[in-house]
Amino acid sequence: MNSPDFGPATAVAAIDGFGEDFALQVRPMSKRKPSNGEVVVKVEAAAVNPIDVRRRGGYGRRIFSLMGATRMPLVLGNDFAGIVCAVGAGVNGLREGDAVFGAKPPSSEGTHATHVMVRADHVALSPSSIPADALATLPYNFQTVARAFADAGISRDTVRERPVLVYGATGGLGQIAVRLLYLLGAKVTAVGAKNGLQACFDAGAAEVVDRHAQSLASLPRHFAATLNFANWDDEAKLLHLLSPDAVGHATTVHPLLGNFDRLGLIAGGVASFAGKRAKRALIPHGARYGWTTFRSSSAVLESLTTCAASLRPLCVKTFPLSQVEQAYLHVARREPGRAVLLPQQP
Ligand SMILES: NC(=O)c1ccc[n+]([C@@H]2O[C@H](COP(=O)([O-])OP(=O)(O)OC[C@H]3O[C@@H](n4cnc5c(N)ncnc54)[C@H](OP(=O)(O)O)[C@@H]3O)[C@@H](O)[C@H]2O)c1
Repeated sequence: MNSPDFGPATAVAAIDGFGEDFALQVRPMSKRKPSNGEVVVKVEAAAVNPIDVRRRGGYGRRIFSLMGATRMPLVLGNDFAGIVCAVGAGVNGLREGDAVFGAKPPSSEGTHATHVMVRADHVALSPSSIPADALATLPYNFQTVARAFADAGISRDTVRERPVLVYGATGGLGQIAVRLLYLLGAKVTAVGAKNGLQACFDAGAAEVVDRHAQSLASLPRHFAATLNFANWDDEAKLLHLLSPDAVGHATTVHPLLGNFDRLGLIAGGVASFAGKRAKRALIPHGARYGWTTFRSSSAVLESLTTCAASLRPLCVKTFPLSQVEQAYLHVARREPGRAVLLPQQP
């Protein structure tokens, strides 16, 4: 943010500290020229994900500080859809004016801004069939789901015609996972609260379970894979549902970052290793067990561009950048629809 300025000023939604005492403030921020391998994207749409709300409260700060992703003023946000407006040296395949989308790794220069600097390998050309607001809900969630599939050993070969359970199926990750599993030929059992379950059927679930009406313990122990996108407290119950010849399980709601925050890097690492080993002991021999974390991958982003049209668009609720606080509140209260900022809207 101290590099040479160019062009008109840009606005960002930033915080100056963690926690409720620090408001998200929209403020001007000077742009810098893209370095080697970077592009500047004029952001048309940027999703607000649950991780943004948690990072605002300080979650993950020990690990994120090692990546420079806690520097204040801190601009949150990973996903973006927009237009390339400057291209650095050494970038091939992207030009000014290209419609693009993608997800940045955690940084202090996130996407909740009118413009964002992104490494070119975290950017892909937008599929023209999908509007920017819907597109901006996909890259972070899709790349996390793809990693969860890899962590659990899920592929067409391993789950075709086999039952797979998605816990948290009504959420952003869950909806994408249900759809992708359906496309891989799995028989999906979607577990979530009642009001989101029709969307799970629509995404391709073979069976839906209202988590308030039926307990996990009452489900058959026959699943080739289970995915936990909902609640770490239920991890062991989900592992008990795997069949003896299961492929594996992955969870995105593990305590890894929380352990580091609470205990420090060494004790947090030891606690995580022990916690993971204890859970791994519960799964059938030969099955995989993964604690999934988001990672931006150009190969996975490319695969998203080819299959995006087959995904069902997530329902969105849009906000101009000036209403960024309301957007975060929307996510914190878990109100229906993915929150998406439209930074070019007045
Ligand atoms: N580790 C990583 O890198 C990573 C990356 C992405 C996301 N995540 C985390 O993964 C989780 C899912 O992300 P998301 O974007 O899909 O979130 P989301 O849209 O808020 O969905 C959360 C889902 O979890 C369910 N749920 C919430 N509380 C629950 C509880 N106490 N018991 C059972 N189900 C519960 C909700 O279902 P109902 O409809 O039943 O309430 C909903 O289906 C979030 O916690 C997020 O922070 C982690």
